[in-house]
Amino acid sequence: MSKVREHWGSRMGFILAAAGSAIGLGNLWKFPYITWHNNGGAFVLVYLICILVVGLPIMMAEILIGRRAQKSAVPAFEEIGHKRWSWIGIVGVLAGFVILGYYSVIAGWSITTFLDCIGWSLNGYTPPPDGAFGAFVSDGSTQLGLSAIFSVATLGVVWFGISGGIEKVTKFLMPTLFLILIYFVISSFSMSGFSDAMAFLFEPNFSELPATGILEALGHAFFTLSLGMGLMITYGSYLTKDMSVTRVSAMVVIMDTVVALLACVIMFTIIYSTPGLSEQIGKSTVGMLFVTLPNLFYSGAMPGGTILGPLFYLLVAFAALTSTISLLEVMVSYFIDARGWTRAKSSLVCASGTFVNTIFCALSLGAVGLLSSFTWVSGKSGVLDHLDYLASNWMLPIGGFGIALFAGWVLDKKVSIEELGMVDSSGAPNMQYKIWRIFIRFVAPVAIAAVIIAVMLGKDFS
Ligand code: PHE
Repeated sequence: MSKVREHWGSRMGFILAAAGSAIGLGNLWKFPYITWHNNGGAFVLVYLICILVVGLPIMMAEILIGRRAQKSAVPAFEEIGHKRWSWIGIVGVLAGFVILGYYSVIAGWSITTFLDCIGWSLNGYTPPPDGAFGAFVSDGSTQLGLSAIFSVATLGVVWFGISGGIEKVTKFLMPTLFLILIYFVISSFSMSGFSDAMAFLFEPNFSELPATGILEALGHAFFTLSLGMGLMITYGSYLTKDMSVTRVSAMVVIMDTVVALLACVIMFTIIYSTPGLSEQIGKSTVGMLFVTLPNLFYSGAMPGGTILGPLFYLLVAFAALTSTISLLEVMVSYFIDARGWTRAKSSLVCASGTFVNTIFCALSLGAVGLLSSFTWVSGKSGVLDHLDYLASNWMLPIGGFGIALFAGWVLDKKVSIEELGMVDSSGAPNMQYKIWRIFIRFVAPVAIAAVIIAVMLGKDFS
């Protein structure tokens, strides 16, 4: 007997959940950091182009495959008659395991920073001593405790399924996140560094764009849009036939991009408003979000910093949670669809299995020497660092490459036309469809191949 498949309760529910997956640490932590190091303006423009010509077409391809198959990432390919391409889904489920393992550790830091901020707001600010962050990340029990809180919260949502868990929670978290963000943007208008920040972000100067900037922008497009790992296939599989794939894809891509840009506006405004800071910023990726920024909220540069401080880390935690939920769902739905497990069993097994990975990651920032200091890939050290390298540089681009080839060259044209609903009044494929098809067949595979080749030659985009 076949069970009735769960579905999203509404189009908005899907959009918010998919946007929740896309919007996360990638937007609030990674994007501002790489934008800063690639000198703003020109990089931002290149990034927007990558999102438009590669990100959006692949997002549409993933959602249309999922919606057509009504099955999660691995069985979806068999369901639509292309079992040989199931490897894309398998790479995806493995990527979910890899990313969720370390993402939960970093997400956990938002809880501590949130609590620190509350303390500072109530009792006055005491700057943490030099090296405090290093001591914090290498404290094994703290790292385990924080990531455990995050993992349990993630399990708690996925356990209740699509409309009863994921949709309900994201429908509350995402609008809250947007409100907090808007409040921040309005606050930054009145700060002295606002116009410098806008100029840095939106005045392109191509002579300042590093040569690898284009590939870095492209690599990041996958991570930030949650593409290349079957996630949008999975979320799309819970979509009903009356929702337009094109429209929901566009909404998700726009929301993700707007949040990434707003995060930059906020952070760079704070940075430019603090004299001398722009010169010393950003030695490490995490530094900006978890070390520099908390200081700034209490430096007096930001009006209302005592309220905004805790609020900001609440926003980070919310954004991270809606991403961890989606990462777990890819694995959970695989075991439900392909192995016939119940949701309860699948959620429990996948979350516990991934937590083993999380334990290794949590202890790899100094707590356990053996896990923290080995170097397999030059410039990386320890488990967490290597897993991020593996997922961002290899798994997501390879998965994305597979999707583009499959949707552009293998999948019957009739299927994509039908699922995208891109026909003119006579029923023939319209202009939009032709454009999509050029991007998915030629532009996306060539661009992704360039990233993969660069990685093979030793470049690192993680
Ligand atoms: N898109 C998320 C972010 O920007 C990360 C993520 C990647 C989530 C892949 C799910 C799948 O933080």
